[in-house]
Amino acid sequence: MTVPKFVALKRAGQKISVLTAYDFTMAQLVDAAGVDAILVGDSLAMVVQGHHSTIPVTLDEMIYHGEMVCRGVKRALVIVDLPFPTFHLGKHRAVEAAARILKETGCQAVKLEGGVDQAETIAALAGAGIPVMAHVGLRPQSVLQLGGYRVQRDEERLRADALAAEQAGAFGIVLECIPTGVAARITQEIKIPTIGIGAGPDCDGQVLVTPDLLGLTGGHVPKFVRAYADLRGIISQAVASYREDVRGSKFPASSESFQ
Ligand code: KIV
Repeated sequence: MTVPKFVALKRAGQKISVLTAYDFTMAQLVDAAGVDAILVGDSLAMVVQGHHSTIPVTLDEMIYHGEMVCRGVKRALVIVDLPFPTFHLGKHRAVEAAARILKETGCQAVKLEGGVDQAETIAALAGAGIPVMAHVGLRPQSVLQLGGYRVQRDEERLRADALAAEQAGAFGIVLECIPTGVAARITQEIKIPTIGIGAGPDCDGQVLVTPDLLGLTGGHVPKFVRAYADLRGIISQAVASYREDVRGSKFPASSESFQ
């Protein structure tokens, strides 16, 4: 998958599937299952590192995980998030951070949270030949300002953000936690793909956090998540069985030992 092919999926009317990955093994599995793009999201701060928000993850950590993911991917487009506050420090710092991500991970694109407010930075990245995806609606990096992870309903602002990102040169836009009707109108208004998460079925594609989709996430899971498996249950069961077998001297068997 390349960036132009990814964009062409919208023109072809083919829905786009995107999932997150943070390490080699999961990247291999998700890639082999045929998704169009893999996002090394800064959600890794929460689902891998155990933080309460995406704010703590650093650029070096994003690069560390991005590199592992790229090593596992043969086919999908790999996009790596620009973490807070790499792109808030001016467009030159943003280009510097994005260039490090491309050079050190081998990914094909970066993503940043923003629309109108980041239009100059998006233009600078695109001008430097760095494919950039925008992220509008709920911006998790602004959770302290927003006061929580809430549905964003200001249609005028959402449409302005999406248009500004497209005009500045973004090749796609994540729409997070916005009403279905607003996401549908934005999707019709712009030529680049919209990738929804909690934005209804009318976006050009969908993205989910893979541990949520696999039922690995403990605690609260947002309403927009569909868990396609219960890996948390399966893992707990497997680990408990192992513990019992070790305690009961049932593991290892002679077939699992060297004579
Ligand atoms: O960090 C992330 O995983 C994301 C997706 C939820 C879109 O930005």
